Amino acid sequence: MSPSLPDIRATLQGAYDLAPSMAAAEATRDLHARMARVVPLADWARHAPYVLAINRLKQQRGAVVLAHNYMTPEIYHGIADVVGDSLQLAIAATRVEAPVIVQCGVHFMAETSKILNPGKTVLMPDMGAGCSLAEAITAEGIAEMRARHPGVPVVSYVNTTAAVKAASDVCCTSSNAVQIVRALPGDTVIMTPDKHLAQNVARLVPEKRIIWWDGACIVHERFTAQDLREFRAFQPDTTIIAHPECPADVVAEADFTGSTAGIIDFVARQRPAKALLVTECSMASNIADAHPDVEFVGPCNMCPYMKMITLEKVLWSLHSMTTPVEVAPEVIAPARAAVERMITLSSARSAA
Ligand code: 13P
Ligand code: SF4
Repeated sequence: MSPSLPDIRATLQGAYDLAPSMAAAEATRDLHARMARVVPLADWARHAPYVLAINRLKQQRGAVVLAHNYMTPEIYHGIADVVGDSLQLAIAATRVEAPVIVQCGVHFMAETSKILNPGKTVLMPDMGAGCSLAEAITAEGIAEMRARHPGVPVVSYVNTTAAVKAASDVCCTSSNAVQIVRALPGDTVIMTPDKHLAQNVARLVPEKRIIWWDGACIVHERFTAQDLREFRAFQPDTTIIAHPECPADVVAEADFTGSTAGIIDFVARQRPAKALLVTECSMASNIADAHPDVEFVGPCNMCPYMKMITLEKVLWSLHSMTTPVEVAPEVIAPARAAVERMITLSSARSAA
């Protein structure tokens, strides 16, 4: 049985100096400078002792931290070795030399790192950090789709369990879904589990018939086209940037749609005076200091799963080494084939 949070806290406090400290905040001023616009110094004084302890422990354990763009700023800027969208993190996982990976993201991301590095320890700071999309489909669901549509290739979003990846022909992420669907043979493609991503891809690839599964991201499906129209009427000088997990009518209201890395690139290139990021809240926080000239406005939604990853849980996972992700050996090879096919098709696109 895993220890309770009070027990974990007591163990960590016995082993490290974790009290809020202005001295620790001063010692990590360079890190705080990357998020000073969104994290006040008094808050940083709470985070800095954890950041110092984690960064020391990373060295002792030979660990790298792979962090998704939806992590909070103190994780994203304070302890991550690599940050990125799902595709960038999967590619980074193929290049890791360290024996230990700490996945700051959700469970399917840690599974992807494990699939690509079966011999390494992949630590998941909170095993409960799931994803509404990954929960929406099982390998039996894929079999059912194949039975209903024989011979049609199955593309599964990386936001799926290892077993679903293993049952699929190829994976995709929000940054390469269009290219992957175009690259597949035949005029029909099954896309699982995100119906919104599938509908957004279908609009961009009209030459293919796309059959989708009925899954959705609970964070992105809460945005409505009406919200965006009202916002634009009220603040017409705002550039609206949406993630493709949003419903198609929301995407239609946006000035740009892209993966989380695509959104970061777009803001860096376009430098809009005012930007509304129609996605998870930490996105704007993580890039606010890099773009002091951009005002980030408007509603955002929190992912309750991503927010389960905290500095305290990262420290515990590295301290105890008791939270490794495991993937059944018979699942690893076929799941890896689906992920590697995706990476190969994506690299072919980048090299072109
Ligand atoms: P990307 O970072 O690949 O755009 O994915 C967003 C997401 O919701 C991951 O869970
Ligand atoms: Fe899953 Fe949506 Fe959270 Fe991403 S933002 S982890 S897709 S629930």
